[in-house]
Amino acid sequence: LAAHSSFIEVAYLLLNAELPTATELAKFDDTIRMHTMLNEGMLSFFKGFRYDAHPMAMLSAVVGSMSAYYHEEMDAANPVHRDIFAHRILAKLPTIAAAAYKLNIGQPFIYPRNDLNYCENLLHMLFAVPAEPYEIDPVAAEALDLLFILHADHEQNCSTSTVRMAGSSGANPYSAIAAGISALWGPAHGGANEAVLKMLDDIGDVSQIGKYVDKAKDRNDPFRLMGFGHRVYKNFDPRATLIRDMCHKVMEKLDRKDTPMFDLARELERIALQDEYFIEKNLYPNVDFYSGLIYRALGIPTSMFTVMFALGRSVGWAAHWREMIADSNGKISRPRQLYTGPVARDYIPVNKR
Ligand code: CMC
Repeated sequence: LAAHSSFIEVAYLLLNAELPTATELAKFDDTIRMHTMLNEGMLSFFKGFRYDAHPMAMLSAVVGSMSAYYHEEMDAANPVHRDIFAHRILAKLPTIAAAAYKLNIGQPFIYPRNDLNYCENLLHMLFAVPAEPYEIDPVAAEALDLLFILHADHEQNCSTSTVRMAGSSGANPYSAIAAGISALWGPAHGGANEAVLKMLDDIGDVSQIGKYVDKAKDRNDPFRLMGFGHRVYKNFDPRATLIRDMCHKVMEKLDRKDTPMFDLARELERIALQDEYFIEKNLYPNVDFYSGLIYRALGIPTSMFTVMFALGRSVGWAAHWREMIADSNGKISRPRQLYTGPVARDYIPVNKR
């Protein structure tokens, strides 16, 4: 898919289980383009947030608020409503993400342009300003499209399980997606791409790599090499190779000055992969190791990295929710707790404790 497809086609596949025909693809693409605008009332949220609010905080809050705007088509039992929900999430998330970014940098909100494809439109909303024309770089759009394909779904990761768990109560799907966004924010999950760049900034220079690798290996030091290791991939994360190659292409084509950081990342990868500790524990670069470098090269700030992950993953969340809700035997999620505390304790009045 990464080699041949587009994010929109992959989104169709996730939602419908088959790749679309040309007609189906054109219709789906059109539908997504037609849903990119937000209800104007939702824009007032951005006036209320502090200018320095983290975009993930705004994303989860505004996505949660979608249930207040689109509640007439939110009946989980209605398959047509389930489709409309999936289309709205996919189409409006870039608009919400870009609005959060514009608030952070004090620029006016830029409306979507439906003549542009998904990633071109996102770049337009992030970087265009009313005062002058903005030219979209095709390499930038191609890189985003690849990253979104590679992030689109990944079985029962923490945020997807959260979406399923929240949705299993019958809660409306926008609330379930907002819960997933919150789960994604953590540094052990989607927040890792932001943490990788912070770590590379801290390392600063190739001469310091040894010190940081030693810290990662020290059991008494909580530091971990961010962008390394995965709960499922214990041999290699296949996404990391594709992203590293795209990172190279972006650096070359855009002639970015971030190349020293890319070189630092490659050297860190090389050293870690030869280290006994990382070999023994099967720790390899994961999807997040190089994605942040691409985002940075495209001019996307670190605080937006996890938001970009959320944009790609949103279709996976929507597809999981739809699959779960369509199952008539579905039950509320309720992990069993194994209690290991004391068997019985007497109540002691507060003045006697
Ligand atoms: N650096 C140093 N040591 C590590 C690292 C790391 N990045 N990751 C795992 N280890 C060690 C860990 O200390 C443990 O050692 P020991 O057995 O001696 O106690 C061993 O490897 C196994 O670690 P674990 O935490 O039991 O493994 P896990 O499968 O529960 O954790 C992980 C997976 C991704 C949370 C973890 O590898 C990690 O924290 N990585 C850094 C954060 C990161 O890059 N996250 C993005 C994951 S990919 C995108 C996504 O799915 O969201």
